[in-house]
Amino acid sequence: MILNGPNLNMLGTREPEVYGSETLENIEKKCHSTAKALGMTVEFMQSNYEGELVTLIQKSMGQYEGIIINAAAYTHTSVAIHDALKAVGLPVIEVHLSNVYAREEFRHKSMISSIAKGVLCGFGSLGYSLGLTAMKDILENNQKDGAS
Ligand code: DQA
Repeated sequence: MILNGPNLNMLGTREPEVYGSETLENIEKKCHSTAKALGMTVEFMQSNYEGELVTLIQKSMGQYEGIIINAAAYTHTSVAIHDALKAVGLPVIEVHLSNVYAREEFRHKSMISSIAKGVLCGFGSLGYSLGLTAMKDILENNQKDGAS
């Protein structure tokens, strides 16, 4: 599951100097084609509501093998999203389009990083593709670990 948080539905027109001109729809298309090339299937979702993101994370249990998440502004504030990700126990990869560490200090803190397998930020939409490649590797190694 690829999950996107608030305001990411506005990509394309939202602060293009920070986030580029690609729309979320375009990023979704790229994710599907990258996933296909990697032999994976993805569902791509976006919500502006913290509670809805929490519910989607809860429902991911037994439905998906891993979560790639750009929680957007909730990254920096949401204990609820942190707890939900922890509760489902799936491998998590955190993605940000921009390099949050080169921006305002309030973006330097993430509620997600401590429970993520890894974090990708600053690579624009490429971060999602890199995340999918990393997720494939994580899932394959988990299977190997389980088999041995
Ligand atoms: C973001 C970075 C966040 O700080 C910001 O609130 C966003 C997008 C990114 O993808 O760069 O909405 O997650």
